[in-house]
Amino acid sequence: MAKRFYITTPIYYVNAEPHIGHAYTTIVADVMNRFHKFMGYETFFLTGTDEHGDKIAQAAQQAGLDPQSYVDRMSQLFRDTWPKLNISHDDFIRTTDARHVRVVQAILQKVHDVGEIYFDSYKGLYCVGCERFYTERELVDGKCPDHDREPIEREEANYFFRMSKYQQWLIQYIKQHPDFIRPERYRNEVLAFLAEPLEDLCISRPKQRLDWGISLPFDARYVTYVWFDALINYITALDYPDGPLFQTMWPVAQHLIAKDILKPHGIYWPTIMRAAGIEPYQHLNVHGYWKTDEGKMSKSRGTVVRPLDLVPVYGVDAFRYFLLREMVFGLDANFNEKALVNRLNADLANDLGNLFSRTLAMTAKYFGGKVPASGASGNGLDEELRDQVELTRAQYLKEMPRWSFHKALMSVWELIGKANKYIDEVGPWNLAKEPSQRERLGVVLRNLLEINKFVAVLIAPVMPETAEKMLERLGVSRKVMDLRLETDARWGTLVEGVPVSKGEALFPRIEAEHEAGDRVPGIEPKKLKKAAEIEKSRGTGTSPPADPCISLEAFNKIDLRTGIIKHAERIPKSEKLLRLIVDIGEERQVVAGLAQTHAPRDLVGKQVILLANLEPTRLMGVESRGMVLAVHDGDTLSLLTTERPVASGHRVT
Ligand code: MSP
Repeated sequence: MAKRFYITTPIYYVNAEPHIGHAYTTIVADVMNRFHKFMGYETFFLTGTDEHGDKIAQAAQQAGLDPQSYVDRMSQLFRDTWPKLNISHDDFIRTTDARHVRVVQAILQKVHDVGEIYFDSYKGLYCVGCERFYTERELVDGKCPDHDREPIEREEANYFFRMSKYQQWLIQYIKQHPDFIRPERYRNEVLAFLAEPLEDLCISRPKQRLDWGISLPFDARYVTYVWFDALINYITALDYPDGPLFQTMWPVAQHLIAKDILKPHGIYWPTIMRAAGIEPYQHLNVHGYWKTDEGKMSKSRGTVVRPLDLVPVYGVDAFRYFLLREMVFGLDANFNEKALVNRLNADLANDLGNLFSRTLAMTAKYFGGKVPASGASGNGLDEELRDQVELTRAQYLKEMPRWSFHKALMSVWELIGKANKYIDEVGPWNLAKEPSQRERLGVVLRNLLEINKFVAVLIAPVMPETAEKMLERLGVSRKVMDLRLETDARWGTLVEGVPVSKGEALFPRIEAEHEAGDRVPGIEPKKLKKAAEIEKSRGTGTSPPADPCISLEAFNKIDLRTGIIKHAERIPKSEKLLRLIVDIGEERQVVAGLAQTHAPRDLVGKQVILLANLEPTRLMGVESRGMVLAVHDGDTLSLLTTERPVASGHRVT
C-alpha cells in the first residue's frame, strides 16, 4: 500500500497579518511535507484562514469594511506570504468557502440527528479574544490567561454539544495511543485537563448578537461557534465524506499547532469526530511559542516580528534554517535578530558556504572544473569521512520523523565540519604539487564533491533554494521536489567528467553597519550590508589584521544552553568525577568534576548552563557530551545558573 502523509497547519485568524509564529508553523509543515515526499510518501499539505466569529467581525468593523471584503483582503495576505517563504501547500482553505459551509452543516446535522446536540440556557464568563466561555478555574487572577483581560459575563440560550459524554472514551484513547498527542508534555497537559470534569461545549451564537458565521442547519436563528466551524476544515479540504482524498488521506492526518490551541485540538476535535462517526486523526504535533526579548509578541508593544521584513534582508533559506535550527520542537524559543545573523554567518556562510566554494574552486583549479574519477580510498581519513556520512544519514533519518529538526540539522553540520577538517588535514594543495599524487588528489576532490551533493540532498526540505543551487552547480539536474532519498542520498552518484561551476557565494556574510540585530521587532530594520559590498567599498580584498579579541561570531559558535540536572551519580573509581544527565531539551550525559564539592543528590533539579557543542569525549570510560559551567572560588566550586528559572534548552546569548 502506498505510504501517505497528510499535514495541516492551523487555519489562521485573519484579524492580524502573518507574523513569525504563523511562518514557523507553516514552514515546519512545508519541511515535513517535503521530507515525506523525499521518503517516497504520497503527500497532501493544507493551510488556510479562519474567517468567522466575533473577533473577525469586530476587526472588520474597525477597518471600516463589511466582513466579507475584510476577510477577502486579509486572507489574501496569508496566501501571498507563503510562496515568498517557499512554502508549497496543496490547498488553501477558507472557512467562508462554500465547500466548507456545506460540510460544517452536514456534520452539525449528523451530530444533532444522533442526539448529541441539545438546547439550553447558559450563563458564564466569556472571553471575546478566545471566542469562548471560561470556567473560574481556568482564569489566572480572574483574567483570561491568553489575553490578560477579564472575561465578560454573558447569559444566553444556546446549543450544546454533549462533549462530557466522551470524556472517558478520550482518556482511554489517549492512554492507548501514547503518541496521539506529542511531544509528551502536551499529552500530559491534555490528560491533566481531562482529570477534571469536562463540560459540554456551547456550539452556537445567536444571530442577534453575531451573524458573521455559518447558520445552524436546524435553527436559522443561530450561527455556529467559530471553533466547531474551524476544526472541520481539516476534512472539508479532503471532500468529506465521499471524496477520494478523504478515502486516502484520512485518518493518517497529522495536525500541527502551537501550544495555544491544544485544548480545541486535543479535546473538542476528537470528541466531535467521535460523535460524528469519524475516526480520529493520527497525531497532534504541538510546538512551543516564539517570544522576543521583550516577552510575548504584541501588536500594541510593537514587538511583532514579520517574516516579510526579514526575508529580503537575510534570504528565505537562511530564515527557514534559523527557525528550524534554533527552536527545540515542543519548547519555547526566543527570536533575536542577532542570533539569526550569527547563525547565518557561522553555519551558512562559513561552514556550508566555505565547504562548497573550496570544493568547487579546487575542482576548477586542478581538474578543469570537471568531476574527477572515483578511486580506491586512500587512508583512514577517507574512511572516517565515509563513516560520518553514514552516521549523519542514520541520525537525520531518526530525527526528522520525530520533528527534531535541530538535531537532524546538527548531524548534517557535523558532517560539514568533518569535511572542512578533512580538507585542512589532507591539504589538496600539497598533493597538487606532486604529479605522482594526481590520482589521490582526484579521489579527495571526488569525496568532497560527493559530500556536497549528499549535504544538498539532505538540506533540501529545509533549504530548497540552496539545495537546488548546489545541485545545479554540481552538475546534477534534479528538481528538489523530485528528490528521493533512496536514489539521491547515495554515495558515488556523480558522473565523471560532468562540468561543475563555482558561481558566487551561497551565503554572503552579513555584517552590520551598526550593531547587527539590535533591531526592535516591527521597527524598520537597520541597514545591513552584505560583506562583499563592504569589502568592495573598502577597496581591499584582504582580511583585517589579527586581533587578540574574539569576534562575536566566534563567541556565537559556543552553544551555551540552559539545562536541568535530572540525575547525578559518582563514577566508580574516580574521586572527582560525577556522571550527570542534563535535560537541555534533550537528555545529555555529561561527566563533571564536581564530586569533591557536590553531593550527587543535591545536584538533581539544579538549573545549570551547559556548553552543548563541546566535542564529545570519554572520561573514565564514560562518554561526556558537553560541559557544565562552574566558577572556582578558593576551594569551592560554584555552578553557573540563571537569575530566574528558565526552561531547559534556551540558548545563552
Ligand atoms: N484560528 C485559530 C486556529 C484554528 S485551527 C482549526 C487560531 N488562529 S491564530 O491565527 O491565532 O493562529 C494560532 C497559531 O499560529 C498557533 O497555534 C501557531 O501555529 C501559530 N502561532 C501564532 N503565534 C505564535 C508564536 N508566537 N509562536 C509560535 N507559533 C505561534 O488560533
